[in-house]
Amino acid sequence: MPEPHEQLTAIAGKLLIGQFHRHVLLCVGDSCCNSAVGLAAWEKLKDELKQRRLSLATGPNACYRTKVGCLRVCCHGPILVVYPEGTWYFGMTAERIARFVEEHLINGQPIEEWIFARNPLPNPMT
Ligand code: FES
Repeated sequence: MPEPHEQLTAIAGKLLIGQFHRHVLLCVGDSCCNSAVGLAAWEKLKDELKQRRLSLATGPNACYRTKVGCLRVCCHGPILVVYPEGTWYFGMTAERIARFVEEHLINGQPIEEWIFARNPLPNPMT
């Protein structure tokens, strides 16, 4: 049985943790949307990131993705947040994912009409 640190370091290496420039968290919880809608968006996000070679990748647009159960907003979902920009999106159904990946993650141009909050990290207010 490998030591925890040794095992986790190996897993992190396989996942390219340490190489990412962004982290996208997508809520699939059933308080902000029907879970089937959230899961469809998640599958589309996984597929788009893979197709565009942003997932399990290196380079300036390398992106880690995480499916979460609640981001505490709980309406008008699926809710999605991108760090380090801290850009909060609403209504991120599967139909919106391809445009989001292309415009925000590849071209660096957030889609203003789908954004409801911003909290860049590190937060210059603190
Ligand atoms: S269930 Fe999606 S934000 Fe709470």
